[in-house]
Amino acid sequence: MTTKQISVIVGSLRKASFNRRFAEAAAKLAPASIQLRIVEIGALEHFNGDLEATPTTAWIAFREQIAASDGVLFVTPEFNRSIPGVLKNAVDVGSRPYGKGQWAGRPAAIVSLSPGAMGGFGANQHLRQMLVSNNTPVMAGPEMYLGGAGDMFDEQGDFKSPATRDFVMAFLTAFEAWVNRFPR
Ligand code: FNR
Repeated sequence: MTTKQISVIVGSLRKASFNRRFAEAAAKLAPASIQLRIVEIGALEHFNGDLEATPTTAWIAFREQIAASDGVLFVTPEFNRSIPGVLKNAVDVGSRPYGKGQWAGRPAAIVSLSPGAMGGFGANQHLRQMLVSNNTPVMAGPEMYLGGAGDMFDEQGDFKSPATRDFVMAFLTAFEAWVNRFPR
């Protein structure tokens, strides 16, 4: 069985980010046939069309990491009912050069996570809209909007609630099947 490589893009740069904690906890729960690895986005220069002819080292490295993945898992907070600017920038950088972007045809799934009750629904839907416009096959369901992030993790960084842990495992199992539908 070959292991599928999943790039995880976290939409928060905060060291103590709940979304990063989610990504790390989820990586431990993933089925054996998929491996989740965080791809960092904090050093990507702001998208600027003037750089397209001479992409920066960080842009090239980011695009190469995505190109080497069998799928992408986005894990994002919600900022002002949308995704954080750093994540939008990463989506934009990955979407170019025009016609040769990294998102088209690459299976993806979205998790949104917030301390608030609505679980980042607005961010989740905005990101889905962006990916659809890139012809990305985004897993439709199960959807994952997680509220209450402030009380989600124990001191080891694992999910406190067995129900949350089971939901994450079910989501990852569905994503594994989704990724396998788009062999690269
Ligand atoms: C927020 N936060 C927030 N939360 C939410 O549920 N809906 C929202 O629209 C917003 N808007 C928002 C804007 C800005 C500028 C900030 C800084 C924060 C709260 C946000 O969900 C919270 O800070 C999370 O903890 C951020 O995610 P990480 O860094 O913990 O992963």
